[in-house]
Amino acid sequence: MSQSPSSSPIAAVILAAGQGTRMKSRLPKVMHRIASRTMIGHVLANLAPLGAAPVVAVIAPGMDEVMREVAPHGIAYQTEALGTGHAVRAAHEALAGFKAGTVLVLFGDSPFVSTATLQKLIARRQAADDPAVVVLGMRPADPTGYGRIITDDAGGIEKIVEHNDANVLERIVDLCNSGVMAIDAAVIWPLLDRIGNDNAKGEYYLTDIVALARAAGRRCAYVEAPAEELLGVNSRQDLATAEALYQQHRRCQAMSDGVTLTDPATVYFAADTKLGRDVVIGPNVVFGPGVSIADDVQILAFCHIEGARIDSGAIIGPFARLRPGSDIGPQVHIGNFVETKNTKLGAGAKANHLTYLGDAEVGAKTNIGAGTITCNYDGFLKEKTVIGAGAFIGSNSALVAPIRIGDGAMIAAGSVVTRDVAPDALSVARGQQVDKPGWASKFRTARAAVKAGLKAKD
Ligand code: UD1
Ligand code: MG
Repeated sequence: MSQSPSSSPIAAVILAAGQGTRMKSRLPKVMHRIASRTMIGHVLANLAPLGAAPVVAVIAPGMDEVMREVAPHGIAYQTEALGTGHAVRAAHEALAGFKAGTVLVLFGDSPFVSTATLQKLIARRQAADDPAVVVLGMRPADPTGYGRIITDDAGGIEKIVEHNDANVLERIVDLCNSGVMAIDAAVIWPLLDRIGNDNAKGEYYLTDIVALARAAGRRCAYVEAPAEELLGVNSRQDLATAEALYQQHRRCQAMSDGVTLTDPATVYFAADTKLGRDVVIGPNVVFGPGVSIADDVQILAFCHIEGARIDSGAIIGPFARLRPGSDIGPQVHIGNFVETKNTKLGAGAKANHLTYLGDAEVGAKTNIGAGTITCNYDGFLKEKTVIGAGAFIGSNSALVAPIRIGDGAMIAAGSVVTRDVAPDALSVARGQQVDKPGWASKFRTARAAVKAGLKAKD
């Protein structure tokens, strides 16, 4: 999306070099997921509408997953975690060509800072009084641990004091630094070069840039945003809190957009779930990434849906599992205990009970009987099953791929079909039925006599 013509350029630096020790994880912290999207992915998604360029993530050596995640945006390495000021400085080379405008500093582990808030921050930076630094502030219920924003009489800010370095009076201040800042590109690098590490943690604090800008005769300002939006994730507990907050927000958004959620608290969305109008979602439904649902679809209770496209008017579930590559046509019915993977179903097709459809194509209006299995894997390769339109697959059939079942063909229940079936043919591939009149009653009489004889001997 483009910026308004009057706005000056924006570059962004996302700090992500911290190890995230408290996560106790092999994964870099910013790679942990909320609603199936990595934390740094959330930051990038919220940043995208601002049209910032370049966008650079500061990472530690070895964080190759993060490098892949932010591509095509660039990365800069901070070889030693010496503080947030030191981390921003690591992006200097990557931003060498960016000489005028605003450098936005974001934290990779604060995933929810919204586009609207970032726009507010930028707008303040671009205001007539031209503040060198605009800090995003918040008032969390418990300010312990956060840097405090010390305001001046003119409504600007004088400095930021880290919790560990704050005196008793400063600790009473409830206006805290979220970490996000918008900084004038013309002064950021010389100011960062002046930051020292003579403080409680012995780190180069980015927050010192405020006092340094003031000393250089520039104004600094702040804007405020709700504390939940600026939540930072440092532990698995924080991650769970963030997930809960996000889901709550997403459920409300879905309902505002015209989706019925029978029991909202039990539905879990992915960040990229796309929902049409008048979609009805029953209780206990979980969406993984890559799901898009058209209008008037019903998802009944207890479904798990991932990587699937569902066309209008389809009915899914209860208890269905749609796996990646599922392409569900309009008015399709997928019933209980049906699993689809890499499978396309044409308009009005039905698979209502106990079925596995993998690597398959099912034509329009075809009926897949209960217990049908596409045998798509021989232990080495996946093979395809193609079923035409208007076909009827009898219950408990195994279709051994690669195989084609023609339009209008019928498969007798209980068949194991290994060869292609012509259009409109009936294929019966099962043992023949043999009936022996009276056999069962003769058998019972004979066995009862044997049993009576054995008892008499006891
Ligand atoms: C920082 C702020 C504090 C603010 C708080 C909000 C500073 C000095 N302090 O403190 O005012 O209230 O965030 O959560 O900025 N990082 C690096 N390299 C480093 C150090 C940090 O990339 O050398 C990254 C981390 O991965 C993280 C972010 O910077 O994404 C913040 O670092 P962290 O150590 O959590 O800062 P805080 O002590 O929380
Ligand atoms: Mg932190």
